Amino acid sequence: MIITKKIREELNNLFFLLKLQDRHSNSSLDKQVKIEQILAYLEIIHAQIRKTSKKRKLVFIDSGAGNCYLSFLVYYFYHQIENREIQIHCIDHNKKLMSSNTKLASAMNFNNIFFHPMDIIDFSTDQKIDLVYSLHACDTATDKTMYLGIKTRAKIILSVACCQHSISMKASSFKIVVRHKSFRDKMLMMISDSLRALLLEKNEYKVDIFDFVSSRYTEKNTMVRAIRTSFKKQIDAKEEYDNLSREFRMKPYLEELLLTADK
Ligand SMILES: C[S@@+](CC[C@H](N)C(=O)[O-])C[C@H]1O[C@@H](n2cnc3c(N)ncnc32)[C@H](O)[C@@H]1O
Repeated sequence: MIITKKIREELNNLFFLLKLQDRHSNSSLDKQVKIEQILAYLEIIHAQIRKTSKKRKLVFIDSGAGNCYLSFLVYYFYHQIENREIQIHCIDHNKKLMSSNTKLASAMNFNNIFFHPMDIIDFSTDQKIDLVYSLHACDTATDKTMYLGIKTRAKIILSVACCQHSISMKASSFKIVVRHKSFRDKMLMMISDSLRALLLEKNEYKVDIFDFVSSRYTEKNTMVRAIRTSFKKQIDAKEEYDNLSREFRMKPYLEELLLTADK
């Protein structure tokens, strides 16, 4: 737990500037929920980053950043509270949001956070990337986030998927299970994230999948955490990927992105 009572109180002003709270620290239910999500996400980020030398500059990418609440919090936490040098690149193809966030960052004197109005797939950098993260990046944006992480050789990739409209699944052996919508959605999420995890493992990332926040704050609470490290491989990721993909007739867009990059 890094968000102590003292830090949480200090964050009230930031949340006020982000219009997540009013001056008296009150907010609507949807904004309270967003605050809980980003605080929980920050805890997960810091669990990894705290292991790195404080002298090193951190470079992060927020993929499908939207209103960038999470990145404003992450920037504030490392810059103001941890006193670390940090740079964050926020990417979103919503030009209006990127422009309003640029103004907000400038008004708050957040000088090392940048907003890139573009598709995630078009972002490139020569910098060494510590972390690529996304929160509820919709549809194929989750695949693009993971691809960006692999392409930039990011040390850590964190991703929480949102809707998955473009992905389809044939679950013949589970027909009786997936006729219930709730189970169909859960199964789609479990299989698609398992396939993505196998692709990450093929690319030398150690992966675990877990709930990053209570489902009280969002049903879409499944985080994929991938860390580029050497580790003892327990399974043949390629073979397992092929088997699972064939069984459910499912191919996440990440597969296509990686195949195109190999050509
Ligand atoms: C549901 S919002 C989440 C925003 C933010 N991460 C949050 O948790 O509040 C998803 C965002 O992803 C952006 N997005 C989706 N696909 C994208 C793509 N291919 N390239 C850039 N941005 C994308 C959308 O414009 C939108 O702002």
